[in-house]
Amino acid sequence: MPQLSVVVPTFNESANVAELHRRVAEALAGSDWEMIFVDDDSPDATADTVRALAQQDPRVRCLQRIGRRGLASACVEGMLASSAPIVAVIDADLQHDERLLPKMLALLQAEPAVDVVVGSRYIEGGGTGDWAASREHMSRWATKLSQAVIKADVQDPMSGFFMIRQPAVLASVRAGMSAVGFKILLDLLAASPRPLVVRELPYEFRNRFAGESKLDTSVMWEYAIMLLDHWFGRLIPVRFIAFTLVGGLGLLVHMAVLALLFKGGFASFVTAQAVATFVAMTGNFVLNNWLTYRDRRLKGWGWLRGWISFTLVCSVGALANVGLAGWLFREHSVWWGASAVAGVLIGAVWNYAVTAVYTWNRKG
Ligand code: GDD
Ligand code: MN
Repeated sequence: MPQLSVVVPTFNESANVAELHRRVAEALAGSDWEMIFVDDDSPDATADTVRALAQQDPRVRCLQRIGRRGLASACVEGMLASSAPIVAVIDADLQHDERLLPKMLALLQAEPAVDVVVGSRYIEGGGTGDWAASREHMSRWATKLSQAVIKADVQDPMSGFFMIRQPAVLASVRAGMSAVGFKILLDLLAASPRPLVVRELPYEFRNRFAGESKLDTSVMWEYAIMLLDHWFGRLIPVRFIAFTLVGGLGLLVHMAVLALLFKGGFASFVTAQAVATFVAMTGNFVLNNWLTYRDRRLKGWGWLRGWISFTLVCSVGALANVGLAGWLFREHSVWWGASAVAGVLIGAVWNYAVTAVYTWNRKG
């Protein structure tokens, strides 16, 4: 019976799997553990590598997700697949020091009041290795921002390396974790129905063993969305906030193109308006596909089909917007400003609700 499940999210980590397994097995010799790899159908066939390993060591399992992406949701699903009372999350690339695992486990087993043990870079004895100063600054800044969301006093809430009691995970997920982005620990702490008792143990962040990092600039956007989710998420779906922000940007694009073409004397108003609409819709589609629906990003033919459905749906949204605003203004003499806002809102809700189903919810 495993006392501990070690959850490892992977995307293109084939070259790290065996080495990680070897080191974890060495570190945890003497305890009962299992390892759950959660792979998002990596092109480098990480899942096959894991299954081959599982043929040699039955403590290893592979949870392969197809058509899905996301570090946080992968960790959550791995932790929920565990039947051990304690679960850990560790990156596959060996940047996290696996020798901390037995200390984390011992601490949780000795102190029932503690819920989470965090591998921390920002306490005495820890460090960020040879991170560039810019990345270190960004990480520290993001850490400050996060203290506004979580109640617990944690020095390294952005750590991707921690150990937690399984029931605490379940409670947070039930209470509505956002599970977008990659700040899984922060998300767990923020969503927990009761403040979790956290301890931190220091470790030195290492260099990647093989492969490269998956976290690009859009993780900053995801981070902002996650914070927003914890602030307003109970009231308004965060995807809707993201969708609306993108829409606001689209309006600026629209006005810029319109001004350029019409004021610049390149086209009549109607032509300029049509081109501006087209450019703004396409821009919105690209941005929403990249950020709002990062986890369901459309590619290839799916992209083209998505773009067509998005354009069609938003055209109807625009008609509904103009129709409702005009009706309120003319038939009910509602103040023009309020009429316009009502039109824009109904258009946004329509666009969001319908594209969520028709543009991004289908496979392929
Ligand atoms: N299943 C799955 N799906 N795994 C993923 C995905 C995904 O979409 N994206 C990344 N991973 C896996 C990687 O394969 C790796 O094992 C781990 O998640 C971390 O990804 P990296 O790309 O190595 O991230 P990093 O090193 O830049 O960031 C890490 O350190 C930060 C600082 O502590 C992560 O642990 C962050 O969560 C952490 O904040
Ligand atoms: Mn890494």
